[in-house]
Amino acid sequence: MCGIVGYVGDQPAWPIVVEGLRRLEYRGYDSAGVAVLEPEGGLRLRKTVGRVLGLLHDSSGPAPAGCAGLGHTRWATHGRPSEANAHPHTDCTGRIAVAHNGIVENYLTLKTRLQKQGHEFKSETDTEVIAHLIEDGMNGGLSLPQAVLRMGEQVQGPQAIVAVQEDDAGSICALRLGNAGGVAVAHHEGQGVVASDLPALLPLIGKKGGGKKGGGKSGYLPVGFLEDGEAAVVTRQGITFLDRAGRQVAKNLRTVSLDDVLVDRGGYRHYMLKEIMEQPQAVVAALRDRVNFTAGQVTLPELTIADAELAGLRRVVLIGCGTSLNAAQVGRHLIERLAGIPAEAESASEFRYREPFLDEKTLVVAIGQSGETADTVAAMEQVRRSGARLLTICNAPDSQAARLADLALLMRAGVEVGVASSKTFTASLTILNLLAMRLGAGRNHLSRQVSQQWVDQLARLPGLIADTLGKSGAVEQLARRYYNYQNFLYLARGINSPIATEGALKLKEISYIHAEAYPAGEMKHGPIALIDHAMPTLAIAPSGALYDKMVNNVQEVKARDGAVLAVLTQGDARLSGLVDDAIFIPDAPGHLTPILATIPLQLFAYHIALRRGCDVDQPRNLAKSVTVE
Ligand code: G6P
Repeated sequence: MCGIVGYVGDQPAWPIVVEGLRRLEYRGYDSAGVAVLEPEGGLRLRKTVGRVLGLLHDSSGPAPAGCAGLGHTRWATHGRPSEANAHPHTDCTGRIAVAHNGIVENYLTLKTRLQKQGHEFKSETDTEVIAHLIEDGMNGGLSLPQAVLRMGEQVQGPQAIVAVQEDDAGSICALRLGNAGGVAVAHHEGQGVVASDLPALLPLIGKKGGGKKGGGKSGYLPVGFLEDGEAAVVTRQGITFLDRAGRQVAKNLRTVSLDDVLVDRGGYRHYMLKEIMEQPQAVVAALRDRVNFTAGQVTLPELTIADAELAGLRRVVLIGCGTSLNAAQVGRHLIERLAGIPAEAESASEFRYREPFLDEKTLVVAIGQSGETADTVAAMEQVRRSGARLLTICNAPDSQAARLADLALLMRAGVEVGVASSKTFTASLTILNLLAMRLGAGRNHLSRQVSQQWVDQLARLPGLIADTLGKSGAVEQLARRYYNYQNFLYLARGINSPIATEGALKLKEISYIHAEAYPAGEMKHGPIALIDHAMPTLAIAPSGALYDKMVNNVQEVKARDGAVLAVLTQGDARLSGLVDDAIFIPDAPGHLTPILATIPLQLFAYHIALRRGCDVDQPRNLAKSVTVE
């Protein structure tokens, strides 16, 4: 949540920081600001309410010219979006500027103390106490890094902080405390960048050809990721990493590639549409090197748990938030069905506040595209302390989730920018299929013959998704009919029930239409009272064991004058004659249907949002990466 970029080098900082913020906008986009250390001395601040690009509409004079600065794109927690509350925040003298991601949990106590000491506050944010605490330290004779570390001893809660000060235009200082989301630091040919996420590192790797990996082709960059309590001082000469006590520490840098930092719309109108269309490739990437198609086996080499241990597992618990929670709910069905192990799924934000029973015979699977969602990370920390096996399915190899887990199954879906997840959901479901099959094989639950059949079906999956995406035009036509409704009911059963939840979530997130998802069997216990001509129902009713039950539910809606739009299996003559409109998906085995049924629901939400004039990639009030509770 919130994006920070800091730059020091031989180029003007302003365009680099603004461009970096634009690339991090998915983390928050209600206001933005930049502070630049000017060559003639002094800090120049520019702020805007709304999107980062608003910074460029400032006509108060020429753009700042200095070669060091920092910026922030905000997702408000304390204090509404306004210029006063936008970061960077400054101290009393205006000589120190700070950008911050996280919540200072004890800010009221600190603010009261600082005010008593004479500090004057200009905003309603918790962040401002950070600037004043650093000011206090520097007034006491500390250098900026020392004062930043001293401040870090006083604030409570996970934070990422970047600070600059007027008297030193040659350095920026970053600090990470707890699980505040990533802080990536890189240096290349006289330029240094600190950023909340890799896309902001593009100036160091893309435009100038970047570094070299093992003398090979260019486009690589060594990057340091700050751990809890670590600070970094970045200058034109390089990076110094410090521990909590201010001692210099050696840090292992990781090489990231141009692909890790590149994000563009590839000719599509929105990132979300591009990412929806990328789903066949996302599935191919998720399957790569994890399946022996000839032998009919899932190999999943990253799952380095011996079959004997798999056989001894008594329970699988899947956790996640938002779309990843919906994936977890599907995963629960897959694991019970394909692996024959009791499985349950729960929101990470609920799980972390229970006292869940966990032991070494429990496998916990934490799902998240970012690997940085605060609740998921906190739940994972709780699991680590319990002795249970901890596995993550995530899309960010350098994330906290990937580092916390015993085992990581990476989605490899490429950067997902659209705030509403699409391709990472499909990648999660693909990997959950692999995991369920691998568990089933390891526990002798899955015969070779069945395994071969399922592997053959997995091989067809990218093609089936591509066929489904080919119906985008038909879905767009339906969006024209349905975009004016204010409410929707989404119904499904069994393994597709979480897909109803995911479809409704997509509609809510990007089109702001109220959409309620229900397991169809529960419809009679309440939601049926809502049905009338103004409340259409979207029914997911592919062929399979629960098809007849869904037919009954559709009949019940029709009997009450409700319009029904259904996701059906290609060739379904029975329901297609009963419903008002149908979207067809290819015939596939039940455990792959959730992936196929999701595609038209994503497209439906997308086209409705477009018709309603909504900002598809950056819906109001949301953020891609929720790094606060
Ligand atoms: C936010 C995003 C959702 C996402 C959820 C979980 O709410 O807007 O699209 O599903 O976070 O994110 P994660 O990175 O843990 O999958």
